[in-house]
Amino acid sequence: MLASEYKWQSCLLADMASDRWSSGLGFLLATVGAAVGLGNIWRFSAVLGSNGGGAYLVPYLLAAFCLAVPMLVLELAVGRTLRSDVVSAFRSVDTTYTAFGWLVVGGVSLILSYYLVLTGWVFGFLLSWLGGSRTTFATFTAGWLPVGYFVVATVLTGAIVARGVRSGIERLSTVVMPTVFALLVALAVYAVTLPGWGRAVGFLFTPDLTVLVDPGLWSAAFGQVFFSLSVGQGIMLTYGSYVDEDTDLLRSSLLITVADISAALLAGLVIFPIVFTFGLQPTLGTELAFTTLPTAFASMGAGRVVAVAFFGLLFFAALSSSVSLLEVGVAAATNTTRLDRGRATLVLTGGVFLAGVPSALSYSPLDLAVAGTPILDLVDESVGTYALPVSAILIAVVFVWAADLEQVRDALGRLYPLVRYAIPPVLVVVTGTKAAGIARPAWRLLLDGARDESLALAVTVVALAALSAMGWWLRSRLPYPRRQGRRRG
Ligand code: TRP
Repeated sequence: MLASEYKWQSCLLADMASDRWSSGLGFLLATVGAAVGLGNIWRFSAVLGSNGGGAYLVPYLLAAFCLAVPMLVLELAVGRTLRSDVVSAFRSVDTTYTAFGWLVVGGVSLILSYYLVLTGWVFGFLLSWLGGSRTTFATFTAGWLPVGYFVVATVLTGAIVARGVRSGIERLSTVVMPTVFALLVALAVYAVTLPGWGRAVGFLFTPDLTVLVDPGLWSAAFGQVFFSLSVGQGIMLTYGSYVDEDTDLLRSSLLITVADISAALLAGLVIFPIVFTFGLQPTLGTELAFTTLPTAFASMGAGRVVAVAFFGLLFFAALSSSVSLLEVGVAAATNTTRLDRGRATLVLTGGVFLAGVPSALSYSPLDLAVAGTPILDLVDESVGTYALPVSAILIAVVFVWAADLEQVRDALGRLYPLVRYAIPPVLVVVTGTKAAGIARPAWRLLLDGARDESLALAVTVVALAALSAMGWWLRSRLPYPRRQGRRRG
């Protein structure tokens, strides 16, 4: 045995105990923490609002249970079977695929770079409303505070991930997720007392089946489900590698999906009564959280309390998602290089921070933009839009077609044909029609504003090419072998 291999194996054994969730509940809270984020709370409401309300629920629920659940089981099962991060998992199938692993890590890290900017905004709004200064988006972004809060969000996320799986990620989720759901329920109970409640319920739950012939509606719903569940990003694969053998992955996936959908619906039951009561527009995207709702909060009796509860839950939800996005890269770096968790976190957090600076500066007095599009919007429209389906396709194709793992097939059971035959073509079609400019925006976080789609497509191609080149270069330069199920040579 080579010295480096020996060192690696003993590290592995020492790591094993701490690199596991402490219980099935801990695992569920962590995965729900990863899934429930800004996407459930304001993105869901915005997509639903701009797609005619209840009509949208039909494709949304279909996509959740027919596509997202099998994909969740696949990722969790691959992680548990190989007991590895996303890069080592791809590498264990074939060294050539290592590049795909880094591509996934790169995409997720770029998403994190601007997700942290938004997490920072939410934190800024929380503090402002807590202090009673009731900021608005225009005032907020006219100063440098958004950049400062981006730094705070980044440092917090890094500090949690550095503490490890159990005492960092799991402990955070154990505190944060019950709080998020409690606040959502409390706000929904308050929303029942508002005059706009009845209209909101009608808007949310009256399906208008005629719009189902609109292909744009379907692509919006599929995108929302994948985004909202954080599925197909290597996040669930990484979290799955910390799960015990006796956890039922199908049951867990159903629970995660139900929790994620409930968070979205509860958020809708909070947001739409407010929107209708105060005569506001339900169709706006990012503006919903930072402009529309604050307008309503300002004219409510209990506005300050409601605002603090709302931004508090939004911040908690965003933070636990940011942590999961960072963990993908940190797990990959600790398993494939000589860095320990602390250093790997430092390096990755630093990289993500640098990548996020232009996005942060695009909503500051600098107004950094390309051809009139703020950098943050551009990264969202490019990487945010395409990294997600591309990663999901790579994971589905490599771990189902190239490496047909028995344990994974067992975990999937009757869902197996869906992952094998349905998911890849659906993702290809939805992404292809989006790139061709036919389908409605699918995966990105922000939804408003006019965008230059060809510029975004160009940025995507450059980013994906650069990440693939980096991954290809790294594939034979990683000092440590992968975890179990390895093939030597
Ligand atoms: N799912 C989270 C949300 O709803 C966001 C998120 C976390 C995400 N990880 C992701 C989105 C990876 C896309 C890709 O807000």
